[in-house]
Amino acid sequence: MDSIDISAVRADTPGCEHVIHLSNAGSSLPTSQTLEAQIDYLRLEATIGGYEAMAEAAPNLDNFYTASGALLNCSPHEVSFVSGASEAWWRAFLAVDLKPGDRALVGSTEFQSAAFGLMQARNRGVIVDIIPNTTTGQVDVSALESMLDGSVKLVGLTQIAMSNGLINPAAQVGAVVAQSNALYLLDACQAVGQMPVDVEDIKCDFLTATGRKWMRGPRGTGMLYVRDSIVGDLVDPVFVDGRSALWDSTDTYRPVSGSARFELDEANHSGKVGLGVAIDYALELDLGAIAHRVRSLAQQMRIQLETVPGVTVTDIGPDLCGIVTFTTDVLPATEVSAALRQRDINTSSPGASNSRWMFESMGVDAIVRASPHYYNTDEEVDVFVRVLTEVLRDAG
Ligand SMILES: Cc1ncc(COP(=O)(O)O)c(C=O)c1O
Repeated sequence: MDSIDISAVRADTPGCEHVIHLSNAGSSLPTSQTLEAQIDYLRLEATIGGYEAMAEAAPNLDNFYTASGALLNCSPHEVSFVSGASEAWWRAFLAVDLKPGDRALVGSTEFQSAAFGLMQARNRGVIVDIIPNTTTGQVDVSALESMLDGSVKLVGLTQIAMSNGLINPAAQVGAVVAQSNALYLLDACQAVGQMPVDVEDIKCDFLTATGRKWMRGPRGTGMLYVRDSIVGDLVDPVFVDGRSALWDSTDTYRPVSGSARFELDEANHSGKVGLGVAIDYALELDLGAIAHRVRSLAQQMRIQLETVPGVTVTDIGPDLCGIVTFTTDVLPATEVSAALRQRDINTSSPGASNSRWMFESMGVDAIVRASPHYYNTDEEVDVFVRVLTEVLRDAG
């Protein structure tokens, strides 16, 4: 595992000159390579026409699949390009044949989009149960094992909680679910791009992720992995067009094989090209090296935060990641983030509506989230903590 050349990656990241960006769990700064690839594609569309650009830049568009396959350790044709992790999740969820009386077991870390889908399913008579957690806050794999009877059709898990960085044992869950008839839907939105994520190790049937967060891709991009071997058991996609299906007789159509069945023809093509470039960039750096660097910056941040008067770090779990969360007894989270933003330091302040089951268990309404990526520096962490200390002192 090579270490990352920080000066080089910062030189590739124009935003570093303007802000201390500690909101990578929200939406990270892209590299100029990603940005230029998008602009080039848009320029090509404007110069020769949209359909013509699609044909001429086909290798750049196809690179999204090759790069995603390498990233997740799957076949390129098992990955679909979508607008974000929520669309990916909904497409996977709606593909599972959940009938009244069927059960879905999910973790308490589920993000709002998933929780809304599960509430809709409940209204249709599907039984949705939340898997208990262990004392560390992680999903209890033994409890899950004892809940997995023949009525369970789906197990849903969020690998990393956006609210407190909790890392769930995704592969242990996969090993248990693989012994049952249930399908395993993993929301890896906060993991992909932050650390190695391997669908074969995890044994998930679906995986959802977004482009703009740790992957450093464009906004409005995401990916859905669907294991080849389960496609025959799935319900046909709800949204279909000429890319996802073939009109093969007067009154029938047939979804195409492969990942295009979960895509529409009209899409963010420049974003697709850009996301492919962003994935290549991360692969070149090495996801193990990225994870190592992110964790070390985050740990340094936590240690310093513990010394700031009025701050309580709210991260949980035996194994911490690049999501650092805290509350203060001086200001509400949104005001802390706003004050930092005025000083060109970007954080975010997620609240209960984003992931209510988690926030209720934490007993807080909102947290400040600072999420360093590998391109951040030790000095930026120091400045962030110093400025935060001043903001809280001035407000107190
Ligand atoms: C854990 C998790 N899942 C899903 C999502 C939804 O991602 P998107 O906004 O790309 O739909 C988010 C976004 O914050 C998230 O943190």
